[in-house]
Amino acid sequence: MTEQRDSSLPGFKLSPHPAGEREHLLPILRESFTGAYLWHARKALRAVPIVHSVAVEGKIQGLVMLSRPVPEIGLVYYIAVARGARRRGLGGALLDASLRLFGDMGVREVVASIERENTPSLGLFLSRHFVKTGIRELARIHGLLKTLRILARMLVVPHEVVMRRVLLADSRPFSTLQEAKGAMYRSMKI
Ligand SMILES: CC(C)(COP(=O)(O)OP(=O)(O)OC[C@H]1O[C@@H](n2cnc3c(N)ncnc32)[C@H](O)[C@@H]1OP(=O)(O)O)[C@@H](O)C(=O)NCCC(=O)NCCS
Repeated sequence: MTEQRDSSLPGFKLSPHPAGEREHLLPILRESFTGAYLWHARKALRAVPIVHSVAVEGKIQGLVMLSRPVPEIGLVYYIAVARGARRRGLGGALLDASLRLFGDMGVREVVASIERENTPSLGLFLSRHFVKTGIRELARIHGLLKTLRILARMLVVPHEVVMRRVLLADSRPFSTLQEAKGAMYRSMKI
């Protein structure tokens, strides 16, 4: 995804951050996470393949970290907005941009792991039509091996809930009948 403006949010700019150009995003993590989450988020900031920020009038106010543990599944690792800039649509803009990016990459499904008590985060993902799922359901749909590859990238602790969204708008043609059947089956799960 190249730099872009969201027409419904004038003045907001989304930008990619290649590895090595992310350290200045740390303050947003520090004011968004604590404890094990902050430790894991800092580690992820350096390691994840995709990081995008959102800026308002030139000041970076939020970020999202993404990866693709298996070709058809996208993972929203962390999404965070500076305290003073919340509830203005920035988190939604970052998540929408992530879904568009994953769609462009041919990803069929996006997953995220969210703290059960994190009302803003749950609200954000629910507002973008994510549904709650479980590790057992993921394993049933994608198989144990793929599920383990997804989980290996997440910080899934007992009080977390895994959420998923099938990208129904994907227009990439299926290459095999089996792939098409699989996508149809997955979309019927929501
Ligand atoms: C979660 C977070 C990224 C949301 O960012 P945001 O910019 O405030 O979100 P938006 O303003 O775009 O809100 C989008 C939707 O999310 C939901 N939402 C956001 N904040 C909410 C809150 N405090 N309570 C309930 N729902 C909330 C709403 O459905 C909202 O839509 P609405 O404004 O039309 O009601 C932000 O609260 C944050 O950075 N939290 C700390 C870090 C974190 O916990 N990240 C998630 C785990 S990775």
